[in-house]
Amino acid sequence: MSDALIAVKPEIAAKARIDAAKYRAMYEQAEKDPDGFWRGEMNRIAWMKAPTKIKNVDFHGDVSIKWFEDGVLNASVSCLDRHLATRGDQVAIIWEGDDPKSDAKVTYRQLHAQVCRLTNGLRELGVKKGDRVCIYLPMIVEAAVAMLACARIGAIHSIVFGGFSPDSLASRIQDSECSVLITADQGRRGGRTVPLKTNADEALKQCPSIRHVVVAKNTGGDVPMQAGRDIWWSDLCDRQKDTAEPEPMGAEDPLFILYTSGSTGKPKGVLHTTGGYMVWASFTHENVFDYRDGEIYWCTADVGWVTGHTYIVYGPLANGATTLMFEGVPNYPSVSRFWEVIDKHQVNIFYTAPTAIRALMREGEAPVKKTSRKSLRILGSVGEPINPEAWLWYYRNVGDERCPIVDTWWQTETGGILISPLPGAIAQKPGSATLPLPGVKPALVDGEGKIIEGAAEGNLVLLDSWPGQMRTIYGDHARFGQTYFSTFKGMYFTGDGARRDADGYYWITGRVDDVINVSGHRMGTAEIESALVAHPKVAEAAVVGMPHDLKGQGIYCYVTLKSGEEPTEALRKELVAWVRKEIGPIAAPDAIQWAPGLPKTRSGKIMRRILRKIAANETDGLGDTSTLADPTVVQDLIENRVG
Ligand code: WT7
Repeated sequence: MSDALIAVKPEIAAKARIDAAKYRAMYEQAEKDPDGFWRGEMNRIAWMKAPTKIKNVDFHGDVSIKWFEDGVLNASVSCLDRHLATRGDQVAIIWEGDDPKSDAKVTYRQLHAQVCRLTNGLRELGVKKGDRVCIYLPMIVEAAVAMLACARIGAIHSIVFGGFSPDSLASRIQDSECSVLITADQGRRGGRTVPLKTNADEALKQCPSIRHVVVAKNTGGDVPMQAGRDIWWSDLCDRQKDTAEPEPMGAEDPLFILYTSGSTGKPKGVLHTTGGYMVWASFTHENVFDYRDGEIYWCTADVGWVTGHTYIVYGPLANGATTLMFEGVPNYPSVSRFWEVIDKHQVNIFYTAPTAIRALMREGEAPVKKTSRKSLRILGSVGEPINPEAWLWYYRNVGDERCPIVDTWWQTETGGILISPLPGAIAQKPGSATLPLPGVKPALVDGEGKIIEGAAEGNLVLLDSWPGQMRTIYGDHARFGQTYFSTFKGMYFTGDGARRDADGYYWITGRVDDVINVSGHRMGTAEIESALVAHPKVAEAAVVGMPHDLKGQGIYCYVTLKSGEEPTEALRKELVAWVRKEIGPIAAPDAIQWAPGLPKTRSGKIMRRILRKIAANETDGLGDTSTLADPTVVQDLIENRVG
């Protein structure tokens, strides 16, 4: 069933801007002549000085990735100024509040003015090209305005998801030494408030680099303002001019940093630059979603994740689209909310995550079927593998078998989509991200880095660069090479495993490193472990992912207490609350198992393979345990598995 091929419908192929033949031709040209291909695509964004050099990449040695390097541009001009003459009065952003009674529409002209006012305000606070500005905002229009104002100044924005704790916010601000923080009094989600300013105040006790805090008034909740440091957004911006000069930026000047989790150490500041990222955002948004002028496009992600950066803000606005920004959650006030918003705003393209689809699938067909959804044309999925059952439910019930589904595989590091069907060109298979976009060269390698051909399973690598690729880890270029280019020399290693079938289709099987994917949120098991061992009663902890019906993966923790400590239900609850407080609610453990000992090799290395199997209740195939220092711990762990 899951290998069933769902052909491109003739009526879609007939209108396709890229059909099967065109896709093959583009793919071939991008492979044979990347310079020619990308010279042909680069003018989809606005340049102040057009580049003459296109690609200059070396995946070996120190690793150097440059695209369009002598071009000069400003990302905010591509997203705003150049649209004013042709679509100034077109809606750029439809904002839909958490409360279904609150919404707003912002035209390109209004958005441009808002961005310019904040640009002037931030300049007044001393922000200039190259400075880092942290954004900790809910899903309100101000989030897009803040990003674009930073881009206009040439300041590097670093967005921290509003669900992260004060400590997580602080460590991200410290790592990139941000001088300004932009936040709001509170956020709103599912009828509750999120204490953003209070969290920020807590974080800033440890952040001496922050000189100013700009606070957007959102809920109107009562929050303390620190004189000399904090300023209300409106007090800063209302008195500003609504025009502001955009800073000329080199194509390789940084646009933003976004922190993401890896298998070791603290989160890495993934750095994206201006020219290549913008070309990739525009190219992929237009072609993967087959975006047509005048359409309403809705990506349900949060701007705190890369999906929000590329497919709520930069890609859609570069393409002059109307992009919908949603403050709320899928099940508030009811589980029909997504479908009601689609009808309310006549959404044509809808892009969401498998975890949301699975949760809504549980509620049955009735909450979907009571809405029309006739406006829908294309559906998308992102963030984790989508199981064929959820794919088919989405296809049949949400899209009424009319709408192609683009299952888009990519990463924070890749800047935009790399593997996905193009709706008019590529037949779909439920559960497969299908084929690479033009300019993308995936391969599968074995454990030694040998390329495996044909139908096979292996480690997913990329053999060559594409314009949207990350350029470095902020402040640590050596770690960039080490993390992505040293496992398999001269190749970018994704950290994912994949299978390729006889049709050349890719099926992403999930992470092969110590990263877990919980509801599409990426987390390093090492981060959760270090949060646990920071608790005074914990001696040791090992964290693995376990299969979870709704979240994709759940967080399973093995905890060894210090001697004399009692493993009580109260302590279990306390540890769950502790991790929530240390990292944020998204990292709350799903299961905690008390472990008198952990399975270690004689050299002291924890054998996670065994812990993963026990958490998944696959205890029949534990494999060789003879190299363990104390094989008896395994039996205890199996017997006391939390299920
Ligand atoms: C990891 C990247 C892509 C933006 C949001 C997440 C997994 C992502 C898919 C997909 C299977 C997917 C991978 C990847 N992933 N999309 N369509 N099918 N797996 O970005 O937080 O950087 O996470 O998400 O494991 O490595 P991220």
